[in-house]
Amino acid sequence: MSESLILSGKEVSASVYDDLSDRIGALLDNDIIPGLAVVLVGEDPASQVYVRSKTRTFNKLKLHTKTYKLPSNITEKILLDLISKLNQDSNFHGILVQLPLPKHIGSDKIINAILPQKDVDGFHPENAGLLSIGRPRFIPCTPKGIMRILEHYQIILEGKHVVVIGRSNIVGRPISILTSIKTEGANGTTTLCHSGTPQIETHTRKADVIIVALGVPGFLTNEMIKKDVIVIDVGINRVEDDSEKGYRLVGDVEWEGVSRKASAITPVPGGVGPMTIAMLVENTVEAAEN
Ligand code: GUN
Repeated sequence: MSESLILSGKEVSASVYDDLSDRIGALLDNDIIPGLAVVLVGEDPASQVYVRSKTRTFNKLKLHTKTYKLPSNITEKILLDLISKLNQDSNFHGILVQLPLPKHIGSDKIINAILPQKDVDGFHPENAGLLSIGRPRFIPCTPKGIMRILEHYQIILEGKHVVVIGRSNIVGRPISILTSIKTEGANGTTTLCHSGTPQIETHTRKADVIIVALGVPGFLTNEMIKKDVIVIDVGINRVEDDSEKGYRLVGDVEWEGVSRKASAITPVPGGVGPMTIAMLVENTVEAAEN
């Protein structure tokens, strides 16, 4: 059986950083250090890992970043006051509030408070609206990174049937827009499936490209796909095992079966994950240039 092509986000992200180095250099020449403020509320282990890898990358590139760690019992008011302070702080061109937030805090209210020009996550309604009408300002990092992987490997969506599984504002919804928008590289025919979709496999079996962003380990199986499909796995799930760490990371795709049948597939880790961070850097550089 033929092996599928591994779509390496690690490799694509390296070329993104290469491309960014001139832009970062030009900003530094003008005494502008691209800066990102990260707000992390509570102790969610996955969020802590994500934030650490984001800030590690910023430090490695000698960009400015600071993480504001707040306890999970913080009030909405204190968080809103912090956002307001960061909005006014010219050392920060971007502000990222790591999601999910504790249940007693209204995520929408917090995201709405971020200055849209500093919303490098692209979650503010103004930025989400601009994307939906085809005039994007900041595109959410994970979907933007997926499009960049497809572009790098010259995967053309025009004429293809794309099935997205998951409708979150972070990935599913924006990637359904990006894949179907009428631009070069996109212009696909996109179906958005979600928890309310009956018999999801009737859709996935017809797909030329499947993008899974559900957060359910091994959700997409061999039986749900046709041969030679292209698979983008957005899931990063911890499953317990006997290793020293006590867990390993797996995607939303059942790797063994699907990777044998697909023509191309993103691995976990090393697929979409590194691209999310690269796009965060790119958006922050763009914010600094603006
Ligand atoms: N939680 C999961 N993914 C993301 C992301 O891209 N940005 C933020 N802020 N939170 C997340």
